[in-house]
Amino acid sequence: MAHQSIIILDFGGQYNQLIARRVRECGVYCEVKPYNTPLPELKALKPIGFIFTGGPNSVYDGAAPHVDQAIFSLGVPVLGICYGCQLMAQALGGRVVAAQADTAREYGKTRTYFDTGCKLFQGLPAEGISWMSHGDYMEKIPEGFALAAHSDSCPNVAIADEARGFYGVQYHPEVEHTENGTAMLRNFLYGVCGAVGDWSMGSYKQAAIASLREKIGSGRVLLALSGGVDSSVCAALLAEAVGPQLTCVFVDHGLMRLREGDEVEEAFRPWDIDFVRVDAEERFLNKLAGVTEPEKKRKIIGEEFIRVFEEEAKKIGKVDFLAQGTIYPDVIESGAGDAAVIKSHHNVGGLPDYVDFREIVEPLRLLFKDEVRALGWELGLPDYLVARQPFPGPGLAIRVIGDLTKEKLDLLRAADAIFREEMAKAGEDERLSQYFAVLTNMRSVGVMGDGRTYDYALALRAVTTDDFMTADWARIPYELLDHMSTRIVNEVKGVNRVLYDITSKPPATVEFE
Ligand code: XMP
Repeated sequence: MAHQSIIILDFGGQYNQLIARRVRECGVYCEVKPYNTPLPELKALKPIGFIFTGGPNSVYDGAAPHVDQAIFSLGVPVLGICYGCQLMAQALGGRVVAAQADTAREYGKTRTYFDTGCKLFQGLPAEGISWMSHGDYMEKIPEGFALAAHSDSCPNVAIADEARGFYGVQYHPEVEHTENGTAMLRNFLYGVCGAVGDWSMGSYKQAAIASLREKIGSGRVLLALSGGVDSSVCAALLAEAVGPQLTCVFVDHGLMRLREGDEVEEAFRPWDIDFVRVDAEERFLNKLAGVTEPEKKRKIIGEEFIRVFEEEAKKIGKVDFLAQGTIYPDVIESGAGDAAVIKSHHNVGGLPDYVDFREIVEPLRLLFKDEVRALGWELGLPDYLVARQPFPGPGLAIRVIGDLTKEKLDLLRAADAIFREEMAKAGEDERLSQYFAVLTNMRSVGVMGDGRTYDYALALRAVTTDDFMTADWARIPYELLDHMSTRIVNEVKGVNRVLYDITSKPPATVEFE
């Protein structure tokens, strides 16, 4: 696809994805590549600039990651951030040392003074807060470089060699706490690298459609459609590119929210595609009957999903391409991990190894979530599909604690619908990342009318988060909680108590199971 690109060389920093998102928000395409990607591979992408990220190492450690020195002879501008800055400084003849306490080691918000004559800071305020996190210090900056920013404790917060287009900053421009961080990145992209801002979802859509047509030719494509944002946008894109050759299989496992299955069908039935809705509620509920252990539920649902999908694929016959809604954070994060398995996430989008197909197509592979949404709107998908909250693959099975029955699921569906309706009416949906109801398996005594009840306690959960790795419980007005609680207890038979979850993640998780 013909657009300019920036390469972000990844040295293992925590905020690398955020750098990439910021660059794209500035209208410039970028890709994150491992620091040791061979130079010819990087050159082939014809980058207009490089950004070296931060990282946990010290450049003077023998085992610390380095770059191919020849990168500095390509005539392509470089912006080094934190570790990336120190790495460039050392590679070009400077000296980096461990900062002594109270000298130039800096963490957190730091008042910084900028040289606005430097291209990086042109047009920006001469003073501002930057977010620092470095224990190393550039004792000597390389020849050809000038100081471009300082703080009260550190003389070289930014360095610049304007002739060669090499810049380094010790702070993190990509984090929110840094004032004018994105504006500085924009200066680098447009003022130094000569970006023209040719990354937009409109142009991406056209280019993606053309390349899908070329790749797929007259082949047959199969997509597992869950109704989630990624698979919905993937379906819409493929429909526009190769509609008559596409089959979308929507496995309705009976664990969806109220009317959700019908909504997915209503959204996709009119498209010029083969849309298959498999009503698999009974077989899922049979498999899940009596199962209380969360991980076991997840495994059963994952396996059963594959079985149903496989059966449908066999009916369709020969499939050339299996489409998946993989998105860029999945790509960047894959291989990252020996992190402990907290929950085995089941994503109904990704099912590579059970259908006889030639190749996988992943048309969203290079997009961030907000870009996927923008593409969804560009393709004319309705708001309720594009702007929807994340919904776990195992659905309501992990929101009914313990043993699952259709009655419990129906009860939860009814209560959850009231919760979501009232939250949306109050405008809370725009502020919150995710909210839903959970049916606990606790029953307690209540009194309704003149009689005793012994019914379920329903929990409401609402969180705010940037990335779902951590989350804070949402502060909802008491009056709204009161109103929702009253409605739920009055309208949903079987619930006599409503609880609001005031636990963050960690120590809790977003979902209950
Ligand atoms: P937890 O409960 O792990 O959830 O804090 C974090 C986010 O992930 C969603 N989630 C899932 N999504 N398949 C998915 O596609 C799953 O199995 C799954 N489990 C949790 C959860 O809704 C929240 O947004």
